[in-house]
Amino acid sequence: MDSFELNKIVLALLLTVLLVIGINGLASTIFVEEEPGTNAFPIETEVEEVATIVEEAAPEGPPLAELLALASVEKGLSVFKKCKICHTVDNGGKNMIGPNLWDIVGRSKGSVDGFSYSDAMKETGGDWTYEDLDGFLKKPGDFLAKTKMKFAGLKKPADRAAVISLMRSFSDAPVDLPAVAAPEMDAPETEVPVENSEEVSEEVSEEVPEE
Ligand code: HEC
Repeated sequence: MDSFELNKIVLALLLTVLLVIGINGLASTIFVEEEPGTNAFPIETEVEEVATIVEEAAPEGPPLAELLALASVEKGLSVFKKCKICHTVDNGGKNMIGPNLWDIVGRSKGSVDGFSYSDAMKETGGDWTYEDLDGFLKKPGDFLAKTKMKFAGLKKPADRAAVISLMRSFSDAPVDLPAVAAPEMDAPETEVPVENSEEVSEEVSEEVPEE
């Protein structure tokens, strides 16, 4: 074998190696690009399954007061789309299939003039507390047998909290939200010693770019 032939072999090997690296590089680029697309669906279902399991395992979930405190108007409006076909919410709004819901939180049950409530609603008595609204909206027929409100209910506690929080705002004087139980505090050890916190703030201020 002369050196020219050897050179050719070495060159061929080198090219092969380069080619393999190139293909690998290319393949991994394609793979990485496709990854989010192909995985998005399975991940989502998994998360949903886990959420269902969690909900089933702990049907209680976070207390209503907490959910109400976290509820967003945006979500409330989206849930309320289901109610709009039967209810108005503006002050003095007309009754439709269901009664007007202005000022519903704290209002006495079945009390809108000119709306013909079911006997069940007329007889139940009391005011609409947050708890009662939550119970009613979960499954109207369970909360109040023979209610005229033909609505399956809102299964998700967060959906109910969002819509209740929204209804609360339809009032000139919204009823106070229920107090959220304070989280249990640990021993004061968790407080950052003054010395350290000074160091931290110094470090942070050094990092801030000067303008
Ligand atoms: C298919 C029509 C319909 C839908 C949808 C509907 N409701 Fe009702 N709702 C009614 C009727 C009818 C009543 C009266 C019930 C009765 O008299 O038993 C009522 C009663 C109520 C009451 C009690 C009102 C009062 O004056 O005591 C509240 C609160 C309420 N609905 C909230 C909601 C919310 C919130 C939604 C959406 C998540 C909703 N409803 C969806 C028809 C509906």
